[in-house]
Amino acid sequence: MSGGVVAIAHPNVALSKYWGKREGQGEERNVPAVPSLSVTLEGLATRTRLRWDDRLADHRFALGDRLQTREQAPKVFAFLDEAARALGTTARVDAESRNDFPTASGLASSASGFAALALAAVRAHGCDWDAARVADLARRGSASAARSLFGGFVELVGSEARLVAPADHLPLTVLVCVTTEAPKTVGSTEGMRLTMARSPYAQAWLEQAPRLHGRLREALLARDFDRVGELAEASALAMHASAIAAGIVYWNGATLEALAAVRGLRAAGTSAYATVDAGPHVKVLVRPANAASVRALLEAVPGVRRVIEARPGPGATIEAEPPCE
Ligand code: PMV
Repeated sequence: MSGGVVAIAHPNVALSKYWGKREGQGEERNVPAVPSLSVTLEGLATRTRLRWDDRLADHRFALGDRLQTREQAPKVFAFLDEAARALGTTARVDAESRNDFPTASGLASSASGFAALALAAVRAHGCDWDAARVADLARRGSASAARSLFGGFVELVGSEARLVAPADHLPLTVLVCVTTEAPKTVGSTEGMRLTMARSPYAQAWLEQAPRLHGRLREALLARDFDRVGELAEASALAMHASAIAAGIVYWNGATLEALAAVRGLRAAGTSAYATVDAGPHVKVLVRPANAASVRALLEAVPGVRRVIEARPGPGATIEAEPPCE
């Protein structure tokens, strides 16, 4: 396809995690039950080209070179229906989306994917919404996507995403240890639902997460790298503990090996902290000066297939507007 608007968005990694949704319908659907704080990453990107077309019978959406059906990509089509409603149009979307990172990279492509799709949909319709308003639309596709509209350190509180600090606020490198090429078996929405329904620790998580978030936010604003790292690791472990108690185990052997390697690094005096999302990959937070040596060590951990290095990066942007007639 040619023409249309091209939006670019980057994945993000949550330092304080969200896990669990509020009850809600329509626009209030997909609102996190707890606040979260993430860092948007540079280097990896989703690029989405989109135009609205009132002659199409249904949306046309291609992922890479593959045209998707409603059955193959139900979340995307439901999101595009919602975007049309929010923009007040009966036109359908013609869009193609590409990730420049592999799907099994350990980084959620849904965050950058829905962020790019939301921004492209709004701008292609001629609307100049601010980032917070676009984020509120992106959130309905995937809540973590709301944070990718902004660069640097971003929080999502209820349905509202906002900038906490710019990308250069805290020198940080994220080392993503990829532990498998296989797609995850339980999606995050289902994992959260089962955790809330079955975990004896769901309530404990819902009470603890906002406390960890508040402390992490404070440590970040104080530029306290070690405190941010400790709290990020505590948030990830508490989230997974609540999920594991419901039988939702995202980890594999290499996840445990990598977590042990990070604890070993700390015992030897290196500031390194781990976080894990709804999958088996381990993301290690280090100071940029330590990135090369820690990366070499993580590459030698049994079961770690490769390590991807990322730094805090920019929010979603528009690459090209169609030329004026
Ligand atoms: O973006 P969602 O709604 O599919 O869920 C993301 C869940 C975690 O990545 C585990 C945590 C987070 O805050 O990003």
